[in-house]
Amino acid sequence: MPHSELKTKLIKNARQIFSDNTIRGFSKWKNTEFKFIAPSNKEYVFQWLWDTAFHAIVLSHFDTKWAKEEILNFLKAQGEDGFLPHIIFWGSKKRLPHWAYIESAISIRPRTSSITQPPVFGIAVEEIYKRDKETLDKLARHHKWLIDNRDNDNDGLISIISPNESGMDELPVFQVAANYTGQQTTRLHYTYRKGDLKNYRYKFNSKKILEKDYFNVEELLFNTVYIESTRSLSRLYKEINRTKESEEFRKIAEKAEKALLDKCWDSKDEIFYSVYSSTEKMAKVKTAASLAPLFLEGLKGSKLEKLIKKHLLNENEFWTPYPFPSVAKDEPYYYPNDTPLYKIKLLWRGPTWISTNWLIVKGLRKHGYNSIADGVVMRMIEMIEKEGFREYYNPETGEGYRRQNFGWSTLIIDLL
Ligand code: GLC
Repeated sequence: MPHSELKTKLIKNARQIFSDNTIRGFSKWKNTEFKFIAPSNKEYVFQWLWDTAFHAIVLSHFDTKWAKEEILNFLKAQGEDGFLPHIIFWGSKKRLPHWAYIESAISIRPRTSSITQPPVFGIAVEEIYKRDKETLDKLARHHKWLIDNRDNDNDGLISIISPNESGMDELPVFQVAANYTGQQTTRLHYTYRKGDLKNYRYKFNSKKILEKDYFNVEELLFNTVYIESTRSLSRLYKEINRTKESEEFRKIAEKAEKALLDKCWDSKDEIFYSVYSSTEKMAKVKTAASLAPLFLEGLKGSKLEKLIKKHLLNENEFWTPYPFPSVAKDEPYYYPNDTPLYKIKLLWRGPTWISTNWLIVKGLRKHGYNSIADGVVMRMIEMIEKEGFREYYNPETGEGYRRQNFGWSTLIIDLL
């Protein structure tokens, strides 16, 4: 099928999924109407930060007005201080899932979570708001919030305070950082959630939490997105002749990028790792996040080459039949199938996600590796044609898992 025909067909599907997953109502606590696309119409019935940004990027291909509405709806819940939560619990559902209570400051009925997620909005807004700058100052305030609250060592890199802030919830990086290398499910759950429980006790006060240093990860994907999103803000400010802000954000991005390229590169393994704790130890486990820095403008020379030739194209690591697995194939944590315990789900432990692929493919194209990128897109189309827009896929067989008609899997449209 020619590309344009395929794109038209996929857009038709995306439009359908987005309208089927749309939830609307009236929020008493915000005293406002709300309308948003949920990631899926089962279980994930709230508004998530980076899902919303991804939905908006897809929408920018066929309905810019709707794309803007999604972002504006999300920004309605921005805190006075600029903070953006990872989830907004719109709706009248009285009882929320248990994790909603753990990840939110003490409340009978939380309105938003008290943690954040990768700040993809800058990138989304640059795609959508070519001329209209309605959201720019609000997003700038969120970036300022990140700097003021999450860079306690002042190196330019942002620390996350919970695995879920990475958007890759149970990625093995966080168990390595917590010094538990076992595979026992209950222990794993405890390892992943114990920081959240402490955060709750410290009322999600970022400065205090980072001072205590029990969970402090300068995570690769989060920071890569943050850096490029900051660059988007800088370019947008330039366009409207606000050169002071534009320069300020350009410098912020540069400082953070330099820190990431220096501190997170392991010269022995020749790959990137997230660093954790105030002593900045490396969490040595190869995951899709190790490939995320490909999305950085400033990744050049031998680091770029090694990352691609030694790891991305390595059949024992990331070059599986349906790339890119969330965990490299030669890691002891690699598990390509769906999580065996359906109810107690452990995510991001091997399968391929369309969202992280989007970032890596965009990165490959940025650096001129177009034929590798096109090859990956072909495999992604194959999975989607066969299995539909699933939440994630088996990196070896392409089998689709968990939620159907999953919102951000339509990101394939942005890669065509
Ligand atoms: C899962 C993912 C997270 C995503 C959310 C909603 O928790 O790990 O990244 O935002 O689902 O799709």
